[in-house]
Amino acid sequence: MREKLVAGNWKMHGNLAENKQLLSAISAGLNGLNGAKFAVCVPYPYLSSVQNMLQDTDISWGAQNVSQYEKGAYTGEVSVSMLDDFECTYVIIGHSERRTLFGEDSYAVAEKYVTAQRAGLTPILCVGETLEHREAGITEQIIQEQLTAVVNVAGIESFSKAVIAYEPIWAIGTGKTASPQQAQDVHAFIRNGIATQDINIAKELTILYGGSVKANNAAELFAMPDIDGGLIGGASLVANEFIAICRALSN
Ligand code: PGA
Repeated sequence: MREKLVAGNWKMHGNLAENKQLLSAISAGLNGLNGAKFAVCVPYPYLSSVQNMLQDTDISWGAQNVSQYEKGAYTGEVSVSMLDDFECTYVIIGHSERRTLFGEDSYAVAEKYVTAQRAGLTPILCVGETLEHREAGITEQIIQEQLTAVVNVAGIESFSKAVIAYEPIWAIGTGKTASPQQAQDVHAFIRNGIATQDINIAKELTILYGGSVKANNAAELFAMPDIDGGLIGGASLVANEFIAICRALSN
């Protein structure tokens, strides 16, 4: 089902006390808000406490990464069954910070995506181009390559149980947002590309925009026909900002 979704990506931020404050403000602010889904993707150590704080709310939770391996001698890794133990709904896969800072290649991203889906988690698959790619006019080619790597491993039908997040790398954490039209163009490219293989899956696919989404630019982004919500970094750590972004989507 094509759903509207705002997902917070806390990255490596937070502590027990701050998380508690943030989540109680957010759950109060989102109480009774309809027409969209809301989630937070938090650092692993906080999954248990976040689960406790959110289990009686309509807000879902998830992780920001997961191992492509089911279990074994993989020091420092976290498996899908561990995320499942804490009733995660979502897991972010292939965020550009994982790809660029931690060397995750397209094949590893595709393996993680498949492993997450097999365990019943909904992957939020991130794709996006650098500024150099955009200036060289190869944005679509880069997005296509990133998607094809996943389709080759998981099949086109896997997108019936996934969310895609288009996150131009030049817009992440920089305060530079893609214009609504720039974002829409790439979202339409993604949806049309998938439609050539399966029109129904394309129609039902939730595609989020991410990259410096704030309370003051969310509404114009969310008004675009192929933008179904947002993956929110910095602004998801500020209760009033996050609540306003969620309200912009649910209206
Ligand atoms: P940002 O991050 O909202 O801080 O730009 C978005 C993301 O990296 O998911």
